Amino acid sequence: MKIAMLASESNPFAKTGGLADVVYSLSVELAKKKNEVAVVMPLYRSLWDKKDFAPILVTTFPVYMGWRRQQADIYRMERDGVVFYFIANAYYFDREKLYGFGDDGERFAFFSLAFIEMLKRIQFCPDIVHVHDWQAAIVPCLIKERYKEDGFYRDIRFVLSIHNPAFKGYLYPDALPDLFGLSEDLFYYGQVRLDDMVSTLKAGIMYADKISTVSPTHRSELLQPWLGHHLEGALRLREWDFTGIVNGIDVKEWDPLHDKDIPVHYSKATFAKKKENRPFLCEKLSIPCPEGPIFGVVSRLTDQKGMELVFESFEQRIAPQGGALVVLGAGDPHLEWRLQNLRDRYPNQVGIYIGYNEQIAHLIYAGSDFFLMPSLFEPCGISQMIAQRYGTPPVVRRTGGLADTVHSPLDSDKPDGIVFNDFDVGGLNYGIDVSFSYYRDPKAYAVMALNAMSCDHSWKESAALYLGLYKAAIKR
Ligand code: ADP
Ligand code: GLC
Repeated sequence: MKIAMLASESNPFAKTGGLADVVYSLSVELAKKKNEVAVVMPLYRSLWDKKDFAPILVTTFPVYMGWRRQQADIYRMERDGVVFYFIANAYYFDREKLYGFGDDGERFAFFSLAFIEMLKRIQFCPDIVHVHDWQAAIVPCLIKERYKEDGFYRDIRFVLSIHNPAFKGYLYPDALPDLFGLSEDLFYYGQVRLDDMVSTLKAGIMYADKISTVSPTHRSELLQPWLGHHLEGALRLREWDFTGIVNGIDVKEWDPLHDKDIPVHYSKATFAKKKENRPFLCEKLSIPCPEGPIFGVVSRLTDQKGMELVFESFEQRIAPQGGALVVLGAGDPHLEWRLQNLRDRYPNQVGIYIGYNEQIAHLIYAGSDFFLMPSLFEPCGISQMIAQRYGTPPVVRRTGGLADTVHSPLDSDKPDGIVFNDFDVGGLNYGIDVSFSYYRDPKAYAVMALNAMSCDHSWKESAALYLGLYKAAIKR
């Protein structure tokens, strides 16, 4: 099968969160199964700093968006059996970060239109175009509306994956003609309307042949009014074409036995050596090594991730019982400030690194004793699965993919983490109290950690489910 993945980020080139992990490792797995896979993403400024980034310019063409004329330069490079195409345009993508600009809508409109044009220019006609999140979600609508007379695109089928329903790709209705060359009727008749705005994500839901999100529990949440992020109406219309497939992780990158970023390697057989990583982690984040457990966090700092609960529970439960907190993250300036403030008040028990840092991430997964993820919502979550692979039991709230991937002592006789129900300080305090009681019982703790290490989070099964979804889209 010929598959084109369209996404705003992908490992190993540009990453702000789990989307990059998924696009890359799913593509590699599909390529291993003898599919022809191309990943198409923007060429951000930061890519030129990567060593081994040496793409070749394959074509250049103009993209017309209303009165605008912007040039797209298409670069190509192969990596791990997958072909990467990079869409370059200095005005839109030569910037200091990936997103967070006032014209993000226009930037990804350009990206979507350039992708469609590119397919024809390079004569690559995929069986499946798999679009990810709001940045790429309008492509099925564009092809089925604006390009419907063009035979080149006729047999392509579309799959949309929703990784983060909080981001809808809202635009004013006049963006339809102005950016996309589409009729405003699509707004007035409702196909692409959400909350009285145009939403590229809603457009994807209405026009894709199949839709997925990244865990079965999150699928059922998205169909409910109070958990659906305003998408439940549209998703109910497409309920029979909507599925939940849990993410995998890149088990080669995340492997405590061969990880070049951790000082002491270990496996299930040598689990006792894991704790030798603790002093290195503490030294890196400038705290003394505690008697009690180290709770790790590696996260975007946004309201989604429940950081306020972490701050509160740290003061109420972790600090008084002699534990420590280590946090690697970046994002909302208010949360970054709160974190710095906590560190300043507890310099011996809170170690932080504000920013994005792969190496420290590896060290936290290996050197912590528990991993905190008290998310408000979590479509899947990659971090808790990485933590499990490193024998670091995750402490998570029962939501989305966290509910599907972590098994608590109350739910299972082979617990591989700790799950609490309520999104409040009491909920997380309970999770932390359970963690301390396991930590004080080294045998029980080791059993939980080894159960976590035994979880199979490889892509094998989920990639087969995606292939099934692609085949179902083709049959439609
Ligand atoms: P989300 O995609 O919502 O951010 P996930 O748990 O799915 O959450 O994926 C997060 C991914 O990003 C993980 O691979 C995690 O290790 C990584 N990550 C998050 N923040 C940082 C950071 N500050 N530095 C390095 N890696 C990070
Ligand atoms: C999103 C979600 C996260 C998921 C990731 C990859 O960023 O917040 O839960 O794991 O996408 O699918």
